[in-house]
Amino acid sequence: MERVDGKCPQRRSKTKNCTVIFHGDQPMKLDGLSAFRTAILHFSDDPTKVGEKESYTYFPDGLLLVRSGMVEKVGPAEKLLPQLSAQTPVTTFPHSLIVPGFVDCHVHYPQIEMMAAPGGQLLEWLDQYVYPVERQFADPHKAAQRAEFFLDELLRNGTTTALVFATVHPASVDAFFTVAQNRRLRMICGKVMMDRNVPADLTDTPESGYQESKTLIARWHGKDRLRYAVTPRFAPTSSDAQLARAGQLLHEHPGLYLHTHLAENRDEVDWVGKLFPDRSSYLDVYAHHGLLSRRTVLAHSIHLNTRDFQLLHQKEAGIAFCPSSNLFLGSGLFDLKTAEAEKVRVGLGTDIGAGTSLSLLRALNEAYKIQKLRDHVISPFKMLYLATLGGAKTLDMDDKIGNFEPGKEADFTVLDCDATPLLAMRMAACRTLAEKFFVLAMLGDDRAVAATYVMGRPAHLRDRSVSV
Ligand code: GUN
Ligand code: ZN
Repeated sequence: MERVDGKCPQRRSKTKNCTVIFHGDQPMKLDGLSAFRTAILHFSDDPTKVGEKESYTYFPDGLLLVRSGMVEKVGPAEKLLPQLSAQTPVTTFPHSLIVPGFVDCHVHYPQIEMMAAPGGQLLEWLDQYVYPVERQFADPHKAAQRAEFFLDELLRNGTTTALVFATVHPASVDAFFTVAQNRRLRMICGKVMMDRNVPADLTDTPESGYQESKTLIARWHGKDRLRYAVTPRFAPTSSDAQLARAGQLLHEHPGLYLHTHLAENRDEVDWVGKLFPDRSSYLDVYAHHGLLSRRTVLAHSIHLNTRDFQLLHQKEAGIAFCPSSNLFLGSGLFDLKTAEAEKVRVGLGTDIGAGTSLSLLRALNEAYKIQKLRDHVISPFKMLYLATLGGAKTLDMDDKIGNFEPGKEADFTVLDCDATPLLAMRMAACRTLAEKFFVLAMLGDDRAVAATYVMGRPAHLRDRSVSV
């Protein structure tokens, strides 16, 4: 794009990855209207539910208009450009695709430094690698440093919202939310509650876990774009008394999230059976304490039966499917087909540090292969739905993020379709839109994220010489 109004642009900055054209001689106002031009894709619903064609809108040459951090309009560039005033900066990304910011439905920020730790399955891996690292988050400086690093990485991978485990230390939550708030991010986090079956110096108690969570809720829940999740680690590390206190917190503060793990590993499931002999299933442990609602997200949920899925549907609870982690720890193959059939909301989780990448494109690659092994095929459209609106729905935030409906928050990711020589070559050979999306999801990773915008402002620019 060179001209939109018949005049020569007054100011311009151009690099390989983006061109910004200012048509007036006034400085760009960040809270005024800005426009972003390239191919644009977003979803209005689940392709599995409404059919592929009805689920998405695609503009091959689109324009996304953002005002004061919110989506004003999206549509064909040809139609919208003539409506812009000369002062509106138009940023153009060649050979790119704008999608809503990715949503990671399950990740542990403190575990970023022990990713790719080799060894046994879940329970052994927790003892050997996870608890020693999480212990260090008693130190607020360490927590602040890691939170900065983690959020840098998240944005570099095109993810703008996540549901995040901290550690048992309240300072780890303060550190995370402080950094997220400074970056104007929409994030959910919570202090881990665990009062048994972990090293003694990492335990809280039903009372201290309750009180500390309550203080953090008062400090952070609903502040700017932040929300709080009551976070019992998983059933084996919380007593009945603690799970009851978690239920009490949810009851006392409507709108909170509940974030935990469910049925990830067979030894874990057997252990829960022994620890809670009066409960009919692992899921029943959580149901018994009133922990299941529309704001509940259960990571993994691999070893479930159809009755469990039906209960999840009835309670409207969501699942975070964590393909990379499930393969890395040898946990099992998530049954997406039954989740879809039973109408349970599913989003994607990277589950760092058991997951080996923070990229949701990489997660899609592995999700596809897992479902292939289960005789279930995820379509390219469903893939990009899962990483965007599907995640937003799972987090019950689709009224705010997940697509480009006017009035939603303008978090978006610019994917570079020519990011690597291989991607460029493969893309050029694609014949259909579906094939393009599939190739992007299968071959893409952080290298394909040219830019990430939060509330309409650049939060990550792969090519840092771009100034917008
Ligand atoms: N189950 C309980 N804690 C954890 C954890 O930190 N990671 C994973 N993958 N599963 C868990
Ligand atoms: Zn996890």
